[in-house]
Amino acid sequence: MRRKLIAGNWKMNGSRESGAVIDAVRDAHPEPAVEILVCPPATLIAPLAGRGIAMGGQDCHPEPEGAHTGDVAAEMLREAGAVAVILGHSERRAEHGEGDALVEAKARAAWRTGLLAIVCVGESEADRDAGRTLEVVGRQVAGSIPDGATPDNLVVAYEPVWAIGTGRTPSLEEIGAVHAFIREKLSERFGAGTSDGIRLLYGGSVKPANAADIFGVPDVDGALVGGASLKAEDFNGIIAAAG
Ligand code: 13P
Repeated sequence: MRRKLIAGNWKMNGSRESGAVIDAVRDAHPEPAVEILVCPPATLIAPLAGRGIAMGGQDCHPEPEGAHTGDVAAEMLREAGAVAVILGHSERRAEHGEGDALVEAKARAAWRTGLLAIVCVGESEADRDAGRTLEVVGRQVAGSIPDGATPDNLVVAYEPVWAIGTGRTPSLEEIGAVHAFIREKLSERFGAGTSDGIRLLYGGSVKPANAADIFGVPDVDGALVGGASLKAEDFNGIIAAAG
């Protein structure tokens, strides 16, 4: 059985005062049926860690240290209190030109220090309109995930670029088709036993109102939540829908 994971991606939002959100999420779920993770900006991991909600980063550099101004190593995230890191988010692929080979190197860096790698994939609207969704997602899954993936070190997040922050989502059938495809690709490469244990998250305009339907789709094992993870009430609603 895959335990559902509800992960919040705060993106470039939040401050030390956001500890109130973390506390409200923790207090609402004293014995959560699902796993809860919040990924704030790197500067907030240490101040927000230790409050009873697991913390993750949003990116890391492949190297453990060195002359890389502005970057953060996986080891640094870990030392700050992170247990996971989001990698290859479409905003990084688009704004920082990250390709699959770089994302794969970052995932290996995450594993080097024991972080769970949450590898993001997803097609653009143009890709979907051209019928290239599975081709694009298949290429990203093949190129962004290193050898050696296990249910303990990898989560894959399917986030259609056109659904992020737009209030639009694919149909439940479309989500199910992509998730089944990703699981099939993981099974071909890592074996069915491993693939069956790896959690696949859906991300893109997940809200309390649509969460239960999305979590009812086979092969959806939770969500990667952007905007709605910034408000405790909304994030709690999504967590409750998963439980
Ligand atoms: P929204 O939930 O704001 O659409 O963002 C999704 C996302 O990008 C999570 O990584």
